[in-house]
Amino acid sequence: MRFIKSYVLRAGRMSDAQRRSYENFSGSYCIPFQPEPLDIPRIFGNENPLTVEIGFGMGIATAQIAEANPGINYLGFEVHRPGIGRLLWEIEERGLSNIRIVEYDAVEGIEKMIRPGEAAAFHIFFPDPWPKKRHHKRRLVTRPFTDLLAEKLSGNGYIYMVTDWVEYADWALAELSATPHLVNPYTGNGGFAPPQMWRPRTKFEQKGLAKGHEVREIYFKHISV
Ligand SMILES: C[S@@+](CC[C@H](N)C(=O)[O-])C[C@H]1O[C@@H](n2cnc3c(N)ncnc32)[C@H](O)[C@@H]1O
Repeated sequence: MRFIKSYVLRAGRMSDAQRRSYENFSGSYCIPFQPEPLDIPRIFGNENPLTVEIGFGMGIATAQIAEANPGINYLGFEVHRPGIGRLLWEIEERGLSNIRIVEYDAVEGIEKMIRPGEAAAFHIFFPDPWPKKRHHKRRLVTRPFTDLLAEKLSGNGYIYMVTDWVEYADWALAELSATPHLVNPYTGNGGFAPPQMWRPRTKFEQKGLAKGHEVREIYFKHISV
């Protein structure tokens, strides 16, 4: 879909526990990239709604959300292997059956692996802000990628993004507002959503708050035509 990636692969060190979890459990919970749609009900063994998360980082918030919502399936895209190892550890530790991981670029992965109308939700928590002007083109929450997300959403599905970078929040709000088939139910407070109380604090959020950053929440719903 686009050639400029929204990430730069970091050669992050894996802890022994992350490496062990990756070696032992990736075969059970990681799905290889494939250039055609996944059979989601077969993968999860049920017809529950699907939430897709882009860039789960260490995945602790992902595991907490999945544990609190056993009736929802979670498919997380991440390219940072230590984080994948950590989420695999959480899945085993908590005995979760409703998470699967794709170790691949979410932009291409969602385009190819998710059918139109199949995702009930997209979660994007603290995407890389790419603050320098010359890097803005790497920002994930940008059209036409947001058009693709809208196409993949089911009838009353939603996109929920949170960032601690105020200028990126304004950017993402404008991009999502300009995306066909999405509507912002929150008109007060400059269009930002109130904090969604069910969302646990993520690792990057903690770092941002420690630096005094303000957190902005953005929530758009899909409208069928
Ligand atoms: C700033 S971190 C936030 C991690 C986590 N959501 C949190 O709040 O702690 C952004 C993450 O998104 C991942 N990421 C960025 N672009 C991605 C893409 N196109 N596909 C998959 N993962 C991506 C990065 O590897 C990184 O781990």
